[in-house]
Amino acid sequence: MRRVYLDNNATTPILPEVLEAMRPYFGERFGNASSIHHHGQETRAAVERARESVADLLGCRPAEVVFTCGGTEADNLAIFGLTKFGDHIITSTIEHHAVLNSCKRLGEKGIEVTSLPVDGRGLVDPDDLRRALRPNTTLVTIMFANNETGVIQPVEELEVYFHTDAVQAAAKVPIRVKEIGCDLLSISGHKIHAPQGVGALYVRKGTTLEPMLYGGSHERSRRAGTENVPGIVGLGKAAELAVQGFKNGEIARMAALRDSLERAILQNVEGAGVNGEGAPRVPNTSNIYFDYIEGEALIISLDLKGLAVSTGAACSSGAIEPSHVLTAMGLRPDRARASIRFSLGKQNTAEDVEFAIELVPASVARLRELSPLYNKEAISS
Ligand SMILES: Cc1ncc(COP(=O)(O)O)c(C=O)c1O
Repeated sequence: MRRVYLDNNATTPILPEVLEAMRPYFGERFGNASSIHHHGQETRAAVERARESVADLLGCRPAEVVFTCGGTEADNLAIFGLTKFGDHIITSTIEHHAVLNSCKRLGEKGIEVTSLPVDGRGLVDPDDLRRALRPNTTLVTIMFANNETGVIQPVEELEVYFHTDAVQAAAKVPIRVKEIGCDLLSISGHKIHAPQGVGALYVRKGTTLEPMLYGGSHERSRRAGTENVPGIVGLGKAAELAVQGFKNGEIARMAALRDSLERAILQNVEGAGVNGEGAPRVPNTSNIYFDYIEGEALIISLDLKGLAVSTGAACSSGAIEPSHVLTAMGLRPDRARASIRFSLGKQNTAEDVEFAIELVPASVARLRELSPLYNKEAISS
């Protein structure tokens, strides 16, 4: 059975070049990167090469890159590492749970949290942000690109510490931390064709973070624990390939595929629309609502035919609650539940998109026929 994977915002397949780069570090190059003998030097050199590649992807110095065990840890390190009792922080209502729940926990610990709303396109208003700043605001954490809709926030330089979760932006849009003006920025390996369980936090030089893990002086005492060398090597290789992807037209090709998928679905299905339409979006993501459809039912129906897509955040799959991102954008709960996320990766081809274009309208039509609520006249008027 043919299977097409269009759920790359949940996780991406490891690219063959990335696997090849990692392979020796599961075998003969096994040294602890802190050891001073040959074996340690070999892995230390690999970790430092990977740090340079990640720094190149982000436009920062290698010393400003802290390797973590993923995007969640990078977000937590930024948020908990910079805040203390009496502080005020600002975030948004559409963050990933890694940020949302970190801020919630800070709120429980007595830190004041302001959560900014978004408009119908999923954008935070920079004026709202400026108005929310207080003398005791120490941190603003607003995501770069949303994992469900791909909508890119207007991130700009601020006077307070600014963290941005760029897990869904990295390798999709060029990132230059100096231009963004952020102090901290999170990325995750498995969203850019490296393995799961590795990530990095950019920490601007001069930013003092309270570590979350205590132990050895790894990562300049910002993240204790023996390095995950194969994972870090994989992240470094994926970062290198991502930089090439911007130069060799790979990202433009992905954008064209996403646009053709979106256009064809909208042309062939009535009562459908793009969530986040009109806002800048990353080039791989399309979040579409299909009125009179239960999103989970459509996902199962498509999966049975070989197409893997999602209803948004993987961690909330199976939950009955409609997406917090889509409801924050003002979507009615039924429309939020009727929304599906298509997300492309570097491995996807024009044939994959054709496959989706053939399946989606037919599956939507079949499910609508089964729905007692479906009203063809209302949809076409
Ligand atoms: C925007 C965003 N932030 C953070 C994370 C968490 O990253 P990780 O899975 O590496 O912990 C994800 C993963 O879905 C994400 O999409």
